[in-house]
Formats: sequence, structure tokens, C-alpha cells
Amino acid sequence: MPTPQQLLENNKAWAKQREQQSPGFFAKLNEQQTPKYMWIGCSDSRVPANEIVGLAPGEIFVQRNIANQVHHTDLNCLSGVQFAVDVLKVEHIIVTGHYNCGGVQAAITSQHFGIVDNWIRGIRDHFHQQQESFIGLSLEETADRMVELNVIKQVENLSHTRIVQKAWEEGRPLEIHGWVYRLSTGIIKDLDVSRKHADDIEPVYRSVPRL
Ligand code: CO
Repeated sequence: MPTPQQLLENNKAWAKQREQQSPGFFAKLNEQQTPKYMWIGCSDSRVPANEIVGLAPGEIFVQRNIANQVHHTDLNCLSGVQFAVDVLKVEHIIVTGHYNCGGVQAAITSQHFGIVDNWIRGIRDHFHQQQESFIGLSLEETADRMVELNVIKQVENLSHTRIVQKAWEEGRPLEIHGWVYRLSTGIIKDLDVSRKHADDIEPVYRSVPRL
């Protein structure tokens, strides 16, 4: 394991190389960021947002938490989404889960792990609600399917926020996507659950003026 001092040395070497490859790179980034993408992913160290989609610093605005969730009471995530949508004017928000996600695996067991139990409670509830759809699946297949269902749920949650609905009402281009990354291959699968219009939202969640 490298020491923190070595990490600082790595950083100096990286910055030097970047600047040599692209003179003025940091000065330009210092002025502004204009990413068109926001990434909501898992905190897992094996899923580094920029790297796996080939984007440079300044090109993707990132929010990560355990099991890539969008909770309606999470000021951290919602503040990030609002900043990305209203200020940076990102055009795509990608919720990316990953197979072999410890957070999802924890949610589908009956073990207790500590504070994180509260954080993953929604996934456990979702697993319980969907239990019939797992009949006949192996443990691994069940976990993989739950990872996908969780991403789909978070795409839905995101589309239900007032932030996203307001952007759509104003005709701003904004698409939400659901992807899953496979650690064993490095390949991302598009779940084809993109949403880009208020019509994509279940009626009960659509925000309309109060009567
Ligand atoms: Co994970």
C-alpha cells in the first residue's frame, strides 16, 4: 500500500504530465467547469466514474454514496442534483449501479451491519416487495437482479424530484439514465430505462399546481 506521502508524489507527477499533454489545462479548469453529465454512483472504490467512461476532470459532476441511491430526504444528493441541473445545466444524469455491490448484498440478507442498515432500508423494502420475481433464481442471480432493480428505482426517484420535473416543464434538455457496471469485465450495461419527459413519470408523482 502506498503511503500518503507517495500519493502526494503521485499527484505532482500526474499534474505535471497533464500540463505537458495539454498546456493550460489547469488554468482553464480553474476558471470554470462545464460538464454535461452528472453521475450518481456507488462509493465502491472499484467504480471510479471519470475513468470507466473515459472523461477528463471537468467533464462529469459526481455524486457517490453506498448503493447509488437517490433518497428524497438526502440533502447531499439533492443539493448536488439541483446544482448540476440548475447551475451547471447538465443534460444527462446517469445512475450507475454495479454487480457485486456490497450495499445491495447487505440489503437482501437479514443481517445487521450498523448505521448502514438505515441507509439501505429502502433497498430491503424493495427486495421484499419484489420477492416473487426472484423465484427460481440463484443467490448470485438474485443479487444481480436486485442491483438492476435498485438502479431502476433510483432513476424513478430522481425523475420524481421537483428539480427534474421543473427542468422538463421549462423545456430544458435533461435525460436520466440507468446503467450497471460489471466489475469482472469493466463493461457497462444500459438498462434502457431512460426518462426525458414528464410523460415518463407515473401520474401520481407528477407535480402539478395545487388546486
Ligand atoms: Co456498491
